[in-house]
Amino acid sequence: MSEQVKKPIKITETVLRDAHQSLIATRMPTELMLPIIDKMDKVGYHSVECWGGATFDASLRFLKEDPWDRLRKLRDGFKNTKLQMLFRGQNILGYRPYADDVVDYFVQKSISNGIDIIRIFDCLNDLRNLQEAVNATNRFKVKEGRGHAQIALSYTLGDAYTLEYWTSMAKKIEEMGADSICIKDMAGLLVPYKATEMISAMKSATKLPIQLHTHYTSGVAGMTYLKAVEAGVDVIDTAISPFAMGTSQPATEVMVETFKGTPYDTGFDQNLLAEIADYFRPYRDECLKSGLLNPRVMGVDIKTLLYQVPGGMLSNMVSQLKEQNAEDKYYDVLKEIPQVRKDLGEPPLVTPSSQIVGTQAVFNVLMGERYKVATKETKGMLRGEYGQTVKPMSQEVIDKVIPGEERITCRYADTLENELSKLESEMKEWKQQDEDVLSYALFPQVATDFFKYRQAQQEKVDMSQADTKTGAYPV
Ligand code: CO
Repeated sequence: MSEQVKKPIKITETVLRDAHQSLIATRMPTELMLPIIDKMDKVGYHSVECWGGATFDASLRFLKEDPWDRLRKLRDGFKNTKLQMLFRGQNILGYRPYADDVVDYFVQKSISNGIDIIRIFDCLNDLRNLQEAVNATNRFKVKEGRGHAQIALSYTLGDAYTLEYWTSMAKKIEEMGADSICIKDMAGLLVPYKATEMISAMKSATKLPIQLHTHYTSGVAGMTYLKAVEAGVDVIDTAISPFAMGTSQPATEVMVETFKGTPYDTGFDQNLLAEIADYFRPYRDECLKSGLLNPRVMGVDIKTLLYQVPGGMLSNMVSQLKEQNAEDKYYDVLKEIPQVRKDLGEPPLVTPSSQIVGTQAVFNVLMGERYKVATKETKGMLRGEYGQTVKPMSQEVIDKVIPGEERITCRYADTLENELSKLESEMKEWKQQDEDVLSYALFPQVATDFFKYRQAQQEKVDMSQADTKTGAYPV
C-alpha cells in the first residue's frame, strides 16, 4: 500500500464482553462498567462488544442482574459508539434451538434496547441456522433505520476447510443479506501467514467488510492481526490491556501502537487508553486476589496449537476424567477427539459442538469401545438436529448409534412450532417488561429464580431471611 492511501484499522473493544468472559467467567458487574463508559465513548472505537455470549446467563444466574437493564444503561452511556453483541444463531444465547418467532423477537428487542451490531454464528457454520437472525435484523433496519447483521464463521482446521471453502462461504454470506463477515477464531488457531492467505482470498471474493476475532491463547494473535491488517482486514477485536492476552484478545494499546504512523493508524489517543487501563487495573488485581482470575489462563497454552483443540475444551476434558478417576487416559482421549470429530462430519469445535465431541471422546475411551454409549447430544448431532456438517458423517456410526431412525436434512427450526405465546403463558405471573419472556425462554429456571429475587427486592423482603440458593424469598 502506498503512503498516501490511508486505511485506518477499525477496532472493536471487547473488555465488556469477551475479555471478561474469557478471563473471569463473565463476572464483571454492570456497576463496574458504568463509571468508565464516558471515557470509552471518546476513544473512537468501531464498536464496543458488551452484550450477548455468556453475559446474559451470567447476569441472571450469578450477578442477579437484569441483562436488559444492563443493555439500557450501557446504551444511555455510549452516546457515540456502536454497541455489539454475540448471538448463537438459532440457539440465540441459550443451549437449544428456538422457533423462528423467538429468534425474531429477541433480535427486535436487542436492537430496540440499544444494540447496533449483531454478530451471529453457528457451531457448524450451517448458514441456514443464521438466516432467520439476519432476516430479523434486516426487517428491523428497514423499519427503524438501525441494526447491522454480521455473520461470523467459526474458524477451524481440517481437510474440508480449504481457501475455497472460506471464499465460497463469504460469497454466500453476501447473498444472504448480511452487512459484514467475521472470522471467529475462538481457539487462536489462525497463524500469521495463514491469515495473509485467508484474508487476501476472502477480500477478493466479497465486498463486505471483514472483521477478525481471535484469542491470544496460543500466543500468535498479535502477529496474526498484523498480517491480517496488511492483507486488508477491516476490523480487529482487542481488549484493553488489564483484561487482554491469555485466553482473551490482544491488547488494544499494543495494536494501536503497532499501526501508529502507518496507513493503518487508528488515530486513538494513547493517554486516553491509559486512563481506561488505569481504571480496570485495580479490578484485575482484585480478581487475581479473589482467585476469579487464574494466572493459568494468562499464559501461552501451546497445547492448543499442538492438538488444535480449544483451551476450554481441554479443561472440560480434564475435569470429566478427574471425576472418573481416569486422568491417566488424557492422551488417549486427545487422540480420540480427531476421530470423533471426523465421525461427526468434521465440525468446527465451538460451543456446543466442542462439548459434544469432547464428551463423546471421553465416553469412547472410558468404555473401551467406540459409541457403546452415545450421549443425547451425539445422537442429536447424528440425526441432523444441529444442522448440516461440511463433510458427511460416518454411516457406520449412524447405524450403530441411531439404527433405523429418520435423519433431518431440512433446517431443524422448520420442524419447530412457534412458541412465544406458550412461553408467555408459562411466565405471565412474573412479567414486568416485554423482555422478561425472552429471559424466560432462554433460561426458564434461572430466569424464574431471578424474577422471584427481583420481586422480593421490590417488596423489601428481609434478605437475611431469603434462601438465595433455592430461590426462596419469603415475602
Ligand atoms: Co471470542
